[in-house]
Amino acid sequence: MSGAAPGIDGGFDTVLVVDFGAQYAQLIARRVRECEVFSEIVPSSITASEVAARRPAGVILSGGPASVHVEGAPSLDPAVYDLGVPILGICYGAQLMAEQLGGRVGPNERGEYGRAELTLAGGGPVAGGAEPEGSAVSDDGGVLLSGLPSPQPVWMSHFDAIADPPHGATVTGSTAASPVAAFENAVQGLYAVQFHPEVEHTPYGRQMIERFLRQGCGAGPSWSMHSIIDAAVAAIRDQIGDGLAICGLSGGVDSAVAAALVHRAIGDRLTCVLVDTGLLRQDEADQVEETFARHFGVDLVRMDAADEFFAALAGVTDPEDKRRVVGEQFIRAFERARTRVPDAGFLVQGTLYPDVIESGATAHSSTIKSHHNVGGLPDDLDFELVEPLRSLFKDEVRAVGAELGLPDEIVYRQPFPGPGLAVRIIGEVTREATETLRHADAIVREELRDAGLEREIWQSFAVLPDIRTVGVMGDERTYGRPVVIRAVTSSDAMTADWARLPHDVLEAMSSRVIAEVSGVNRVAYDITSKPPATIEWE
Ligand code: XMP
Repeated sequence: MSGAAPGIDGGFDTVLVVDFGAQYAQLIARRVRECEVFSEIVPSSITASEVAARRPAGVILSGGPASVHVEGAPSLDPAVYDLGVPILGICYGAQLMAEQLGGRVGPNERGEYGRAELTLAGGGPVAGGAEPEGSAVSDDGGVLLSGLPSPQPVWMSHFDAIADPPHGATVTGSTAASPVAAFENAVQGLYAVQFHPEVEHTPYGRQMIERFLRQGCGAGPSWSMHSIIDAAVAAIRDQIGDGLAICGLSGGVDSAVAAALVHRAIGDRLTCVLVDTGLLRQDEADQVEETFARHFGVDLVRMDAADEFFAALAGVTDPEDKRRVVGEQFIRAFERARTRVPDAGFLVQGTLYPDVIESGATAHSSTIKSHHNVGGLPDDLDFELVEPLRSLFKDEVRAVGAELGLPDEIVYRQPFPGPGLAVRIIGEVTREATETLRHADAIVREELRDAGLEREIWQSFAVLPDIRTVGVMGDERTYGRPVVIRAVTSSDAMTADWARLPHDVLEAMSSRVIAEVSGVNRVAYDITSKPPATIEWE
């Protein structure tokens, strides 16, 4: 498969977020977009000429490692400061800016971690007493801080501290442990804060970022759902021309939104393929068909391949073997579907921006490793990839999906693994075990939804272990299978915690599963975080 076409971001004011520490950079990029300005994460190795070529409205230097003085600490091409592009340094980025522009950064007596009180320069009494007692407002806090309350809480995480700001810059805020907690030189377009404005624990942080964008960079709000969709549709038309495209729908939100966007762009020149593996959640295949074929009028090929999947899974118990078998069957089914549109030259995939960042590419580069959202398509398929979501974060994808008219059940659907229910049935995956699990899983998700908790929980599902337990129902001894409920909170699936579900919700799940799912006589709740466990059981 060959690489993707240029992204949808060409026509937007762009702020580049220089990545000195991935987790901070992504959060900053998201905050910028929440202010309706397009942002893109770039590596710290970017050169000044590469920055200039992007013609950004501004640059933000993210937080990162502990100290600018550590050997091998990442730096920035100093010529970036001479481009005349406004720059905001955050935490490590603030220290780097101070150090590179002639200020001084030294070790502190102690680090400053967590909440700190920021006192702003020129803080005077509040007119009208609108702020809490003992609070004032700054009239000399520069572009970022003037008019905000002083003192105010901010979130710190650093050991070194800025001792002197660069020549010509004004100190605009300080804390007990950081005499230079904020500085700026608005004439030169330089802004810096030692604390983290991107986190929720800095309540005025969003205002500061917005001021940098609007006043510092002159970037107005342009990155809105309407403009994203318009730009995506234009980019897709540009790429596909009068060609034909094919898209595998998995039931998940990413492939659904990608398909809906491409359908809007090229209409009936898109064919969607839905492989019903027999391992999907209850009603999932029907719902996808209903939404796409009936509601949107998309040309949909549904491959009912459950017989082939179960035949291939007979006797397979090892988790990795299951994944391999499901992957192979998926490719076979997809290839069969493809013969119905032999001239399709484009394959639509729901690759998201975090996948692009993780693969080391940028939204502009076209040589990323393809991310197999569809369920493991081989690299030698003769398609050009269309990846209309490769500039978007997950929450933006959901918003685009809602704007395009996809139903909530698809837009807010929880993640579901490619191998489906096969990795939630311990031991052999039979048709009967799959029916049992699918039914129990539907009850678990239904109860969670009825309790209004679906959007707070990252994933919630049932697992069917390969054991029997003794029970008693009426006067009868039973010897049935237990079902395990798994529900976790997470923001990215890298780490997760077991969800503290209310006892009455667990009670409702348990009693309904026992009453309604035949063959099940016991329900347990998994109280393991990740790590040490994984979210899925296999
Ligand atoms: P684990 O179980 O590793 O899962 O904590 C992390 C996230 O990835 C999903 N997952 C998969 N997704 N193919 C997929 O497409 C897979 O083989 C697979 N295994 C796990 C899982 O549901 C969770 O969201």
